[in-house]
Amino acid sequence: MLRRLHAVQPASFAFTPANLAWANGQISKYPVGRQASAIIPLLWRAQEQEGWLSRPAIEHVADMLGLAYIRALEVATFYFMFQLQPVGSIAHIQVCGTTSCMICGAEDLVAVCKELVNAKAHALSADGKFSWEEVECMGACANAPMAQIGKDYYEDLTPAKLRDLIARFSKGEVPVPGPQNGRYAAEPLSGLTSLKTAEAGRRQHNASAQAAVDLGDTVRRIDGSEVVLTMPWLGKTVPPVAEARGDAKEPTPGKGLPADASGATVQEAPARSKGKPKSDGNAANATPLATPEAKAPAMAVQSKPSALPSARGGKADDLKIIVGIGPKLEILCHKLGFFHFDQIAAWTAAEIAWVDDNLEGFKGRVTRDNWVDQARSLAARGKL
Ligand code: FES
Repeated sequence: MLRRLHAVQPASFAFTPANLAWANGQISKYPVGRQASAIIPLLWRAQEQEGWLSRPAIEHVADMLGLAYIRALEVATFYFMFQLQPVGSIAHIQVCGTTSCMICGAEDLVAVCKELVNAKAHALSADGKFSWEEVECMGACANAPMAQIGKDYYEDLTPAKLRDLIARFSKGEVPVPGPQNGRYAAEPLSGLTSLKTAEAGRRQHNASAQAAVDLGDTVRRIDGSEVVLTMPWLGKTVPPVAEARGDAKEPTPGKGLPADASGATVQEAPARSKGKPKSDGNAANATPLATPEAKAPAMAVQSKPSALPSARGGKADDLKIIVGIGPKLEILCHKLGFFHFDQIAAWTAAEIAWVDDNLEGFKGRVTRDNWVDQARSLAARGKL
């Protein structure tokens, strides 16, 4: 399957405040120097936020993790869980077309998608609510044929069942995932023939379907305004954060797409950026799409922080440990006279504004990635 970046891309990407807090929590799960391990959850969150993974989103995640863009692009283009083009505002339907499912009727399911959604895979339905594609085995072969809709598996499908599911999703319902033919899980349709004691203590649905029901998080996108972010590895819960950006409302059909044929709400994908960010990266200033109404941000009071001519004792701290600082930004920091965590930790709001404005090519990164808080904890750790 050829997986390419979409020809039309938004101008920029920034996580919502709540999703940024969640992303930083994910990064904190990994040891220092191993932050790149957070790439899958961060890409996934970016996709949840926007509905699909744009190039700016992939590059934004790469910047957060200090990765070369190509490394993040490799991941995003490899896994078909990542959608590289706009998808339906309600759901993207992934029909398994591999052997078990094919034998059990996957082609009939694809025919339903072609009829009800769009004749072409990856193209939106007329109302913008759905899109579909055929994918490879998703490991639910005992419940073939099946499709992943949103985040969940709908199994033991028939064309009629899939029609019914699409109709219900379209009305705003979220049908219970799992087997759609009355089976509890993957047991014989006539019921268990062995291990019957397993029936005791069953909940209403099998474990994965029950989890989907309990979480209530299936086709719905997480925009940061309605989810409680749990970080059990940090022993804390981050409450939902009200959207700071006026544009980050409930997703609307076709978000991320041109509003109309004029393409007024999008920018054509530029030529390869040679690794340079396309926006100033300041979450407070960023908009996911280039809108004509976008206003210039108010100028913050600026003050240049005290700088050093060289690292104390000839040994600089490894600033790349700060999430969001990669090799290029570290060199830039050194040029500006910043070599140590305690320097960054001491920046005032006016000094942050000055540095944000003077990171040529990376403007706004101090605020966006909260360098100061990170530097404070790193500086404190160094004193232990
Ligand atoms: S063949 Fe369809 S899930 Fe495995």
